[in-house]
Amino acid sequence: MKIKKVLVTGGLGYIGSHTIVELVNKGYEPIIIDNLSNASIKVLDVLEQMLKIKIPFYQIDCTDSCEVNKVFDEHKIDAVIHFAALKAVGESIQKPAEYYYNNLVSTLTILKAVQAHGVKNFIFSSSATVYGNPIHVPCLESDPIVNATNPYGQTKIINERILTDYSNIHKDTNIALLRYANPIGAHSSGKLGENPNGIPNNLMPYVSQVAVGKRDKLTVFGNDYPTKDGTCIRDYIHVSDLALGHVLTLEKFETDPGLVIYNLGTGEGTSVLDLVNAYQKATGIKINYTFGPRRDGDIPTNYLDVTKAKNELGFKCKYSIEDCCKTAYEFQIKHPNGY
Ligand code: UD1
Repeated sequence: MKIKKVLVTGGLGYIGSHTIVELVNKGYEPIIIDNLSNASIKVLDVLEQMLKIKIPFYQIDCTDSCEVNKVFDEHKIDAVIHFAALKAVGESIQKPAEYYYNNLVSTLTILKAVQAHGVKNFIFSSSATVYGNPIHVPCLESDPIVNATNPYGQTKIINERILTDYSNIHKDTNIALLRYANPIGAHSSGKLGENPNGIPNNLMPYVSQVAVGKRDKLTVFGNDYPTKDGTCIRDYIHVSDLALGHVLTLEKFETDPGLVIYNLGTGEGTSVLDLVNAYQKATGIKINYTFGPRRDGDIPTNYLDVTKAKNELGFKCKYSIEDCCKTAYEFQIKHPNGY
């Protein structure tokens, strides 16, 4: 069955909005649900202008079963990409009930609607965080999933479990658990990018705000890790490369693979200082930084083995780390106060 209409929850968020672009470019017809808790309605205008189409949009919460089912009644949905979730690691430690409620009930609500409406294709937005403190790097899809280091990560693990159990009995449904590396960078047009509220939690938006003088300096959390330069190592992937991974997964669904799990990253480990240096090289701007204490819950090293996605999806990253930095900077310059 040819997949055409794709419901994208959290479609106005950072990864969601970049995925909408790739979906439309490949001829899919997205429908967006977003509660706007961490996204701007202006992103919808940007997308519609960029893509020169009208995109059906519903400002609803994915935990609202009644409203969610209305959307499924209204459109003949072929596939769902479920991005909508709370995602701040630190906040999840402070607000476990909110994180477990939102991230689990929203998936269950969408899944029940999927079941009731006979939808056979479901992509779940998971994370490298499911590997916890990995037993080895690069992490492999077959590695044991034990415990994450925080409630946010636990919700990813539990959601993966729910979807795996669903897939065990609904053999005719294709489910993909996509475990993301750290998405960074911005759309090459400079029109879409990461736009955090308040002080950024994540490294890249913080560096960009230092680059434009919005923040004084970056604090590098820890320089005594057992890594080549003492700072943490992560796998940073351009958000548009990550977005394309979803389109490739939908193409894979045409072969009815059932449950599939893919790491989506570059396969390369980059330290915090490597990233700062790449940013300086790409933009010619000096990034002031100082070393501070380790951040609670950070693990020294995490990067992904992406051989499976390469072999089975034809997944390949187009953007280098410098491209990531350059596009992030361009978005920051063009949007000094967000969208
Ligand atoms: C975390 C989550 C990941 C989640 C992502 C999105 C874990 C292990 N990882 O990634 O699952 O998808 O957030 O929110 O739970 N850093 C600094 N200074 C800063 C900010 C960050 O030095 O001001 C360092 C951190 O210590 C870390 C690296 O930069 O080593 C990346 O941090 P960040 O961008 O927050 O992402 P993760 O913690 O890797």
